[in-house]
Amino acid sequence: KDTAATGTGRVLLAAPRGYCAGVDRAVIAVEKALERYGAPVYVRKQIVHNVHVVTSLEAKGAVFVEEVDEVPGGAHVVFSAHGVSPAVVSAAADRGLQAIDATCPLVTKVHREATRFARDDYQILLIGHEGHEEVEGTAGEAPDHVTLVTSPEAADSIEVADPERVVWLSQTTLSVDETMETVRRLRERFPSLADPPSDDICYATQNRQVAIKKIADRSDLVIVVGSANSSNSVRLVEVALEYGARAAYRVDYASEVRPEWFEGVETVGVTSGASVPEVLVRDLLADLAEAGYADVEEVTTAEEDLVFSLPKELRTDRNGAR
Ligand code: F3S
Repeated sequence: KDTAATGTGRVLLAAPRGYCAGVDRAVIAVEKALERYGAPVYVRKQIVHNVHVVTSLEAKGAVFVEEVDEVPGGAHVVFSAHGVSPAVVSAAADRGLQAIDATCPLVTKVHREATRFARDDYQILLIGHEGHEEVEGTAGEAPDHVTLVTSPEAADSIEVADPERVVWLSQTTLSVDETMETVRRLRERFPSLADPPSDDICYATQNRQVAIKKIADRSDLVIVVGSANSSNSVRLVEVALEYGARAAYRVDYASEVRPEWFEGVETVGVTSGASVPEVLVRDLLADLAEAGYADVEEVTTAEEDLVFSLPKELRTDRNGAR
């Protein structure tokens, strides 16, 4: 039956979705820096992994670079929410750059854990994705102590120097289930494996996964708004499929949604990654309504009210007053 034509389609809208406290803070940091210092303000790497956010900030005068050596001496440079290694901090200082650190405090927390366990001479098994900026930053805190574990399967072949002195840490935006499976396999081989003092996978990643799990098996189709390089967004697609969605796709913009996805679909699940502005979800909902999926039910599994204060470099005004 053609649901679109009859207009009886339904949308289940996951909550929480979209911006987390770390992304909100990082985006505001760039905007404030632009306001205060004027364009251009340089940003090392994408401030958050979202195409729309990056293009909008570019339009306001932000200049995104890969490395600090592309930034003219003395200029302002913002470090992205994913964090940087100490090597990047010193490279920026060497160039005389005015650094503004927009690293998410929950990533900084993992950096501190890495530094502490390295100091106590642990081998750190860092669960995460090779080449991801956050992993590079965290590993950079203690390069000699960190071994990257990229999947549950990889856990089976990791070599450690002393099985009595190993700890696992992780990237903040992984699949909770898959990470627990990796830890289980690591512990099978190294029973003395120590746990991080608190969860490394952040509240936002966890909450968004719980929310999508709740609606996945009631959805014929799940659409996740988020960019291809956004780890937590890509995980939401995987989790939706694992938890019973018949199909799940990721889009940057509503315009990428394809008519053939809706064949026989009555219920569409919608969510968005932690770096996604709500306006992109609103655009998608408007298109869905037009296509006959106008009845929207929001399914809320947690309330979020965490707010982080701005990076310290931006907390004072020009006169130094709070
Ligand atoms: Fe921070 Fe988690 Fe967001 S680590 S940037 S709160 S996805």
